[in-house]
Amino acid sequence: MAATALIVLAAGRGTRLRSALPKVLHHAGGRSLLAHVLAAGAAAGLPAADTFVVAGYAAEQVQAAVASSGVRVILQQPQRGTGHALQVAAPALVAYSQIIVLHGDMPVVSATTVSRLRAELEAGADAVLATATPDTPRAYGRILRDRKQPEQVVAIVEDRQATPAQKQIRELNAGFYAFRVQPLLVALGQLGTNNPHGEFYLTDTIALMAQAGAKIRAYPLPDPVEILGINDRIELAEVDSLLRRRKAEDLMTQGVSIYAPATVAVDPEVTAGQDCVLEPGVQLRGQTTLGANCRIGAYSILTDCRLDDGVEVLPHCVLERAQIGAGARVGPFTRLREQAEIAPGAHLGNFVEVKKSRIGEGAKAMHLAYLGDAQIGARVNIGAGTITCNYDGEQKHPTAIGEETFVGSNSTLVAPLEIAAGAYVAAGSVITDSVPAGALALGRGRQVNKPGWVAARKKKARSSRNGG
Ligand code: UD1
Ligand code: CA
Repeated sequence: MAATALIVLAAGRGTRLRSALPKVLHHAGGRSLLAHVLAAGAAAGLPAADTFVVAGYAAEQVQAAVASSGVRVILQQPQRGTGHALQVAAPALVAYSQIIVLHGDMPVVSATTVSRLRAELEAGADAVLATATPDTPRAYGRILRDRKQPEQVVAIVEDRQATPAQKQIRELNAGFYAFRVQPLLVALGQLGTNNPHGEFYLTDTIALMAQAGAKIRAYPLPDPVEILGINDRIELAEVDSLLRRRKAEDLMTQGVSIYAPATVAVDPEVTAGQDCVLEPGVQLRGQTTLGANCRIGAYSILTDCRLDDGVEVLPHCVLERAQIGAGARVGPFTRLREQAEIAPGAHLGNFVEVKKSRIGEGAKAMHLAYLGDAQIGARVNIGAGTITCNYDGEQKHPTAIGEETFVGSNSTLVAPLEIAAGAYVAAGSVITDSVPAGALALGRGRQVNKPGWVAARKKKARSSRNGG
């Protein structure tokens, strides 16, 4: 196969978004518009090393966003049109025999479209452009075909330059192209700016190439939804819904039940095993993975979490970078933070917060607790209101609780601290010293009862009112 480069046009500002962020870095469906386009190219087998992003407006931000991906950024300064973007990229393109061009603000483009453009070019065309014929007209470029040889495209006419008759043409230019580099470079050198915007239009290269005898083919998109681009935040929301819906349908096809899918937001890289259930309002973000048979309760938000099989998350949990073992149950209203490791069969209940801690197999903390920097053994019972005091204002300190320990309600565990296996901590204790295995630790004032104290006080008050 010939050496192929991918060029993503991403230098425009996106004025109608009214944003300090360049358009292509706005998010839809859980990642930036640009990231979707790059993912489509990568999934079609175009390597990052052969991928070029043309950046201009807020180019440093675009550069920073793609820095770790290995793609290269070409600076277009100022931005004088889509044809100018390719002119600026020309020195990089001469190393390739053919290129694919995509728009950074059209994130619905599929890997299949990229592959098909390439295949049609390699079947012997000089240029191939994706077209769509949607039911509702749009202000896109119109496709002009040769009268005698309708498979030949002879020009693209931009909406603002189209005659009334041309405006009736329903076949539109999607903005996804494959070109042989040589004839394209020739046409780019001939572009002018005689149009309402005074810009160099990439679309004008089609007529120039056709006049020079090039073979130019259209690839009608099987699904015209791919031509959805983003110009304002209303379109951003529409495309977000569409991409979310697609991801939800992928998961449903794989055996995941999703109730009220329009309310559920699942990021592109999330995976979920068979027979998982997502209730309404669930968000699964980042690199979250669910084993089989997990149930995620309504309005729970999981970011970069790993759940093994059969985990139950009750409604309204916020879980971040946590790992949860098979059959464990958390929620409602549980908060797990970084490095929370919940062993199989453990149960965490409402208003329990866990950070940098391991909760052992079958251990329970059912109500109102903070467990930070703690190692909690198997089958430990953490009473309501237990707090690990892990921070002394300067440093964090660890707490270790051996297996089958019982920590009474409202215990204050001042770290560093070790409570050995099988110990009991009396409710309401402030524990500052280590507790040996099997011991009962009491750390509180002893209760004193004063019989008759209330009546005595009332009597005293009466006598003082009577002029005592
Ligand atoms: C373009 C096409 C139109 C097509 C439509 C599909 C042209 C002249 N017209 O119009 O036929 O129907 O896309 O969406 O190409 N960009 C740069 N540098 C620039 C200008 C633009 O990199 O100097 C980038 C933009 O960031 C954007 C893409 O190119 O990602 C398309 O530019 P835009 O101005 O949106 O073109 P359209 O008017 O939509
Ligand atoms: Ca556009």
